[in-house]
Amino acid sequence: MLRKEQNDLLTRTGPGTPMGEMFRRYWMPALLSEELPENECPPVRAKLLSERLVAFRDTRGRYGLIDEFCAHRGVSLWFGRNEECGLRCPYHGWKYDVNGECLEIPSEPDESGFRKKIKLKSYPLVERGGILWTYMGPPELKPPLPEFEFVMVPSDQTFTSKRWQECNWLQAMEGGIDSSHVSFLHRGDLNSDPLFKGARGNQYNLSDSMPFFEVAEHPSGLFIGARRNAENGNYYWRITPWVMPSFTSVPPRGDHPIHGHFWIPIDDENCWAWSFDYHPMRALSEGEVKAMRDGKGVHVKYEPGTHRPLANKDNDYLINRAAQKAGITYSGVEGIAMQDASVQESMGPIVDRSKENLVSTDNGIIMARHRLLKAAKALAEKGIEPPGVDPATQRVRSAAVILAPDQAFKDAAREALTVQPGKAHASI
Ligand code: FES
Ligand SMILES: [Fe+2]
Repeated sequence: MLRKEQNDLLTRTGPGTPMGEMFRRYWMPALLSEELPENECPPVRAKLLSERLVAFRDTRGRYGLIDEFCAHRGVSLWFGRNEECGLRCPYHGWKYDVNGECLEIPSEPDESGFRKKIKLKSYPLVERGGILWTYMGPPELKPPLPEFEFVMVPSDQTFTSKRWQECNWLQAMEGGIDSSHVSFLHRGDLNSDPLFKGARGNQYNLSDSMPFFEVAEHPSGLFIGARRNAENGNYYWRITPWVMPSFTSVPPRGDHPIHGHFWIPIDDENCWAWSFDYHPMRALSEGEVKAMRDGKGVHVKYEPGTHRPLANKDNDYLINRAAQKAGITYSGVEGIAMQDASVQESMGPIVDRSKENLVSTDNGIIMARHRLLKAAKALAEKGIEPPGVDPATQRVRSAAVILAPDQAFKDAAREALTVQPGKAHASI
């Protein structure tokens, strides 16, 4: 349970808010690289942390993320003409470069120098791992680019998608560190989804729906361990790393790729759910990539031409009550990603955490909130850099392991929880 002011602090990320200022200290995924596929392609709207921005790729291939609205009289530059190293407002022709500098005001004599005084807000936009990343904080404090394993492996080993989720970022992220719901919400899919099925670990998930949670601190966040019974008195551990503010990696299953997420606020009532799949050791197979493109696993099918899921709140997520009753899907909603999104959106745009009743399986969530509150306050009051900014602290892996009852997961799985290039991930 949280007091209203704590809930507000965690969920508000607009300019000037403590959590918003904290998000602005990290590189965040802004767009998929494929959204700006070539030089002078159409610009793309990109609202992030309640700021309306537009992204474009200029004639020389440089990326820009600038204020959406023209400095003249506020026309959306999404309508802009992307030409000759700049984005030109279609109303009166003012033109801006990737840094938001005004290059031309056609109606004014250039000698007046007026245009030199005009600059739109701009943020860096940099490609890594098929994603265009931005940093919206103080320029002098910009950290090195992120080094999460899924963006560091060769491009044929990794696949990322994003979907619009119509609720606050935190309730979406809390679903990612809540391993206990897998035994319920996703139980119908563990043995049928092509990106999940066939793993031995699935049986432990299905047969033990009362996992014991143990949470260990990590410099950049937490390791959240969920322990279920395995054979001969041993335990099956699923360990989820959470890196502040909103990166998680789901414990792997068999030889399937590892999947995980980022949740990035669009505004306080919407977020981008970024979902990736990567294999540390091998290229993704054709069949795996096809399944991902078809919306299996943590990915979704879209409304054509958008990143809005085809099953969404306007069509009640295409719920199938017969499938629910028959146990084909536990909730009646098809697909793991939409099962998550539907229950999280059903809480309302920003869930009221003063009304909840938490239990022991919510320990990871409780500790994550605590870390976020502490870090946001430390930054706001003392200027302390939040955890997880340093790329060295991002080199974590999720793991699924069998351990003897006397082994503590944080010691026994220490190596498995660290990125080791060229070494396979620990998976059951
Ligand atoms: S509003 Fe953009 S040039 Fe006039
Ligand atoms: Fe889930």
